[in-house]
Amino acid sequence: MRTYIVGNWKLNFTVGEASIYLHKLLKKMPNYRDIEVVVAPSTIALQPLSLQIDRHKMKLSAQNAFYRDYGAFTGETSFTQLRGIVDYCIIGHSERRYIFSESDKVVSKKVAAAIRNKITPILCIGETESERAFGETKDVIKDQLIGGLSEIGDDDIDKIIVAYEPVWAISSTKSSKLAAPDEIADAVKLIREILSEVYGKKVAESVPVLFGGSVNPSNAGAYLTVPGVNGLLIGGSSLILSEFTDIIEIAKRVHA
Ligand code: 13P
Repeated sequence: MRTYIVGNWKLNFTVGEASIYLHKLLKKMPNYRDIEVVVAPSTIALQPLSLQIDRHKMKLSAQNAFYRDYGAFTGETSFTQLRGIVDYCIIGHSERRYIFSESDKVVSKKVAAAIRNKITPILCIGETESERAFGETKDVIKDQLIGGLSEIGDDDIDKIIVAYEPVWAISSTKSSKLAAPDEIADAVKLIREILSEVYGKKVAESVPVLFGGSVNPSNAGAYLTVPGVNGLLIGGSSLILSEFTDIIEIAKRVHA
């Protein structure tokens, strides 16, 4: 399986800054066939960057989109509009769940809309700090995974990517809040067990599972060698060109 290195730029970079960053990244980056490099800029930058990107080297992802294709939905951008512009879309990120009140129901409609429009959903799941403290980690992972995939049948399950992002480990500057490799291994094992129960063993082994939460060049190697982890979803470190390219190089070495 390929290794996925996905940079989630969140609400950062103007369109001009995003274009300059992409230009430099394309120049610096070799074409690694076994490493799928993806960047997720703000919606406004997607169309211009889609004309600039070299799709042999990397792909574009949206950070969010609305599940209805057209209509009276002021302010929204649909997966239909993004079709042909992006290859991926991050769906159900914790910032969307907790800041924008997205439920599993909404997440499941977005996952279905992405697939309907030939865009690969990167379904994010993960527990908060208090859920973990109350011993609810397993239930949260199960609810978010089954809930997020509730509109996806056997035919489409091979078109999704799952990202485990424990909310407490996101944007952490404290080493005490970094996820430990064995904590990630437990969560990824659980994700594959749930997938196996619902969709069968073969699917459970073939769905890519990424990890996200304060990934940087000094921990990327350790996270990429966690059993069952097929890649990384990176926030802050993906905004720094040298760090992002270092992580790509680490992925290349680990994959070899
Ligand atoms: P950080 O890498 O900044 O912790 O962000 C992780 C994340 O939320 C990626 O989607």
